[in-house]
Order: sequence, then C-alpha cells, then structure tokens
Amino acid sequence: MTTTSGPLLITGATLADGTRTDLYLAEGRLADPASAPAGVERLDADGLLALPGLVDPHTHLRQPGREDAETVASGTAAAARGGFTCVHAMANTTPVTDTAEAAEYVAALGEREGHCEVRVVGAVTKGLDGEELAELGMMADSAAGVRLFSDDGRCVGDSLLMRRALTYVKAFDGVIAQHSQDVSLAGPGACCHESEWSGRLGLPGWPSQAESIIIARDVQLAELTGSRIHVCHVSTAEGVDVIRWAKARGIRVTAEVTPHHLLLDTPLVAGYDTTFKVNPPLRTSEHLEAVREALADGTIDMVGTDHAPHARQDKDHPFDVALPGMLGLEQALAVVMEVMVGTGRMDWPTLVERMSTAPARLGQVPGQGRPLAAGEPANLVLVDPAARATVDASASRSRSRNNPYDGRDLPDPVVATFWKGRRTYAR
Ligand code: NCD
Ligand code: ZN
Repeated sequence: MTTTSGPLLITGATLADGTRTDLYLAEGRLADPASAPAGVERLDADGLLALPGLVDPHTHLRQPGREDAETVASGTAAAARGGFTCVHAMANTTPVTDTAEAAEYVAALGEREGHCEVRVVGAVTKGLDGEELAELGMMADSAAGVRLFSDDGRCVGDSLLMRRALTYVKAFDGVIAQHSQDVSLAGPGACCHESEWSGRLGLPGWPSQAESIIIARDVQLAELTGSRIHVCHVSTAEGVDVIRWAKARGIRVTAEVTPHHLLLDTPLVAGYDTTFKVNPPLRTSEHLEAVREALADGTIDMVGTDHAPHARQDKDHPFDVALPGMLGLEQALAVVMEVMVGTGRMDWPTLVERMSTAPARLGQVPGQGRPLAAGEPANLVLVDPAARATVDASASRSRSRNNPYDGRDLPDPVVATFWKGRRTYAR
C-alpha cells in the first residue's frame, strides 16, 4: 500500500543506454516532459541512472502462515527498497497456493497491501507433495491469472508427473519453474556443497550433479512436450553446461541465478553460521565463475533473488537442522553491480534485461520490464552508481534478519523506487 503521489518531473536522469533525459510521471504513467506544468514538483536526478523497475521471478513472502517471518506488506516493502516494482510470490506457504481460491487470496493481499506488484506462483502438485497435480488450469483461469507454477522448496521428482505438468500448462502458455534437486542423491538433510569443505566440516553434502541431473531430465521433458521449463537458482557449472546444450538445441528453457550464488562461496559455512545455509548450497569459486559467465552471455537469462526470510527460532539450530534460505531483495541490485557491472562483465542495458525485462517476460506481466518511454506505466528505479555502504541487517524492511550480506561493504544504489507513478521507497 503506497500513498498516492502527485505528478513529478525527474530532471537530468541518465538511461541505461547513456542517454540523458527528463522523465515526467503523471497519473501512473510516463508522459511527455514538455507537457509538465510550470509549478510541478521536481526531482534533480543529475548523476543518477533511471532504470525500469526490477522484477523478481522468485520471492518467498511467507503469507499466509508465517507472518512472523514475512508478510506481503513487509516483503514488498523490502522489494521496493531494493528497486523492485514486481515480485513473484512462491507457493510454499501455509496453506500451499495450490487452488484458485488460494491464488486469489494472495493476489488480493498483494493488491491491498503490496508496495509493488505481486504476481502469484501456483504449486505444481497438491500440498507440494509431488504426487498429484494441483489445480493448474483453475489457477490460470482465476483472477490471479497464474502463469508460473512451482513446487519450489521441493523438487518435482517424478518424471511422469513432470511430463504431465509440462503438457498441461502448454495449453495456456504456462511455465513450470523447477527447484532442481535430486533428493535420492542429495536428500533433505544435505546442506553443504559436496567438496573438501563438507568433509572437513562434517556436513552432509550436495554434489553438483544432484542439480544438473534434474536439469538434464527436465530440459528433455520440455523437448518431448514442446513446453516451457524455467530452472530456479542455478548454482553449478554442470547445470550451466546442460542449459547451454539445451538452448543450442532450441529447447524452450530459461534459467535464473541468485545474487548469493554469484557472490558467496562455500567457505562461508565454515563458521556454522546458519545464515549461510541455503538451498542449493553456496558453491565453490569455480562454480561462481561459471554462473557469472553464464549470466553475462545469456545462458542464464535472469536474476532471481530467492528471498527466503526465516524467523530466528528457525535459524537458531545446529547447521544441519536449521531451515535453509537467506534474504535477497534489498541487496540484489548491489550484488549484481558489484560482481557483474563493477568488474566490466556486464553493461547497464544487459543488467536491465536480466533484472527487469527477462523476468517480466517469464511471468507474462504486462506493464513491467518496459522501456522508460512516454505512455508506459511509471515503474522505475533511480540508481546512484557510485554510492556504497556497509550492509546493516537490523535496518532491513524485511521482518527477518537472515541477511548474508550483513557487515559487508557493497554498492548502495537505490535512491528511489516508483511503482505506477507512486514513490514506494525514497532514501
Ligand atoms: C527456500 C525457502 O525457504 O522457502 N529456501 C531456500 O533455501 N532457498 C525454498 C527454496 O527456494 O528452495
Ligand atoms: Zn528452491
């Protein structure tokens, strides 16, 4: 929920392609700056970049069921703080989003309380149990207009069920987003990248192949059915290789990488700090290198935060017992800038493609991921490319504190976020 703002003239902003321009926000849209009345409120954006609002394909908002960890209001406030104007709310809530009614309930919460657009992700299977398909068609036809389906948190392990899900959603151009984890190879207890580190620390390991085996199966099922598959949080060099192969074959696959898999590596778990426990686990440097290269060359299409808030009582446990997941929305842009733009691996137009255009296309969200041109909805973020700060987990807009960047010096880019012309965040 954001209070209505009046018309605003943003002057001297720089677009991703380097063009300098004024932007006039009126009645929720961008309008011709020449039409702005003389006394209109102004914002001097000299030295700032104006980018289309960011879109997250993978957010855990925890409502309904775990409002102590996050709510639609707090999670979308964190999103706005991170420059996002749209998030996709994952289905692993309590109850699970596996019916049209449940999907409409989350969509209505988003309409009422969201600080950005909330698109609903429906479950693939009832109760995420991996046994019976959920009401995919009814969720698609509902007021929530679900197009993305995922059992995320769990892998759809059964190949026939996965084939059926892919076939079913093809009718309405839906997409199955898979949490790729072969649980017979890396069971629910696995919590560390299988490596010298897992051995030394005595933590059950997850080999890279537990990810790439499922990706390999799913892209072949996508080929068999002619349907679309999206790979959540790719974290391994092997996973990247399979996706590259599938794309070269013309298979309809897209993939995301999280900010944490771009920046954080396995040795961080050596202190058994459960903030660093996440699924898939933090990988070693050669994997970080592979996912960075894949994000640069487009093998990985987009960034997905996998923002996964957890209450203290679910993290204050021995490492192997604590719940997996870490926050991501507020520092996502900062991490991508640090790892990709600051190192010369990626330019600003490509960042816009990976963090706004591609995820909006995946979710089929009209009005998001659009160029900043007159007539388009006024969804944008103003970015200071030079600002830096030390991350303070206690200053988060999230209800949770499992921020893996706490105490780290990172870019602090977001100056203001506008959603449908309204200011949803201002520094
Ligand atoms: C996520 C969560 O907590 O819901 N946890 C995680 O470690 N990433 C689920 C998921 O994205 O797999
Ligand atoms: Zn997942």
